[in-house]
Amino acid sequence: MTTTFPGDFLWGTATASYQVEGAIREDGRTPSIWDTFCEHPGTVADGSSGEIACDQYHRYPEDIALMHELGVKAYRLSIAWPRIVPNADGAVNQLGIDHYRRELDALREAGIMPVVTLYHWDLPQYLEDHGGWARRDTALRFADYADAIASGLGDRVGIWTTLNEPWCSAYLGYGSGVHAPGVRDYGKALAAVHHLNLAHGLGVQAIRAHLGGTAKVSSVLNLAVNIAQTDSEADMAAKHRADLIANEVFLGPMLEGRYDPEIFEVTKPYTDWSFVHDGDEELIRQPMQSLGVNYYSTTHVRYRDTAAAVSAAGGVAASVARPVSPAERNPMPAQDIVEALPPAGELTAMGWNQEPQGLTSLLTELGARFPDLDLFVSENGSAWDDEVTADADEPNGMIVHDPRRVAYLEAHVRAVADAIAAGAKVKGYFAWSLLDNFEWALGYSKRFGIIRVDYDTQQRIWKDSALRLRAIVAHNAI
Ligand code: FCB
Repeated sequence: MTTTFPGDFLWGTATASYQVEGAIREDGRTPSIWDTFCEHPGTVADGSSGEIACDQYHRYPEDIALMHELGVKAYRLSIAWPRIVPNADGAVNQLGIDHYRRELDALREAGIMPVVTLYHWDLPQYLEDHGGWARRDTALRFADYADAIASGLGDRVGIWTTLNEPWCSAYLGYGSGVHAPGVRDYGKALAAVHHLNLAHGLGVQAIRAHLGGTAKVSSVLNLAVNIAQTDSEADMAAKHRADLIANEVFLGPMLEGRYDPEIFEVTKPYTDWSFVHDGDEELIRQPMQSLGVNYYSTTHVRYRDTAAAVSAAGGVAASVARPVSPAERNPMPAQDIVEALPPAGELTAMGWNQEPQGLTSLLTELGARFPDLDLFVSENGSAWDDEVTADADEPNGMIVHDPRRVAYLEAHVRAVADAIAAGAKVKGYFAWSLLDNFEWALGYSKRFGIIRVDYDTQQRIWKDSALRLRAIVAHNAI
């Protein structure tokens, strides 16, 4: 069956600055927390870093040509904060602004709308040296940075996104410590949650101060799709707890102007939330046109009898918005009644399950709860162990046949169509990722690209999944 998408549906691909740019010392950029984190042995699986990555800082014209060939209408990219405000004195680096001006202009010339994320995890190291996201001042510095971007690049951006997946920044960065800056302190993780929310609110204000109320502003969340094993009261309570810590801590303040008081209750052992000042919750809720949702898989949960399971050490995922390998699991005791079940079915190279239906239900539920909001699938994709095949007809004499990535893509695009049919206002789909890239703590070992990167030569090699996306875009249908 063929399903056609609405005429204005926005097809795109996505990347993030530290994962693709490289050029970490160029044009005045200073280190981010990820440069520092990667230097510590044992933090990144293959000992690599984003030092060179896909070299997109220099190769963006070539990558834009690839997107043009793909036919996509939008590129979701992020700006590297340490390129724009490289030092603690707060001075704006014109070389950084100029670089992104050139890149955004090139995108627009190719007919590709820039969807710009202000923060995709590369916090300037000088801010971390003063406490990073655990400190309120970082949110204020974010507002200054957003102001600099809005004035320097404002007219070139189609859709703004303040933050990418604050769940990861807060809980993986400051809770389990598996992401930069590698801090392990749940009180700080929750402070980071709040300061990221605050940064979002202040960032939206800064953008609107420059560009007016019609500027299209969004935020991108990796909302967990937690599925209770049974509908027993206990399993439903476990799901509710996981939802609170993973999702409601962001949705509540950003879209409803308040934290659910139950969040304060269940996190009492770590913090009294005194970092929430009067007026903060209202400030965090700023008008947004759209919400971006990053979706990869689901998590099945059940109630854990804490008395019986106190020492089932390391097993409790804090909240499983970004399902992680067992080693990455986040034993946040506020989640002690939640047991994440092992993922089932054919798992991707990340060890993540495949459940496209979860995307349909997530979008449908969000649509019903926030009927005024446009929704985007701002990231969706899968990692597999790819192999290159010689093929004289292909541009570099090579192609990657990736049937499982093609199947994942098709199933999830269909899941989006199902959500639209069920009434959700889904306005776009961004494939993660345009290119294989630096997959954070897993380095270059996991490949999410629909286009392969040969890291020795920086050659871009098409995969079948890219050809499939091109066909879907061309027909605006699946
Ligand atoms: C998301 C991140 C993105 C990428 C994908 C696989 O959590 O936003 O940068 O790492 O996962």
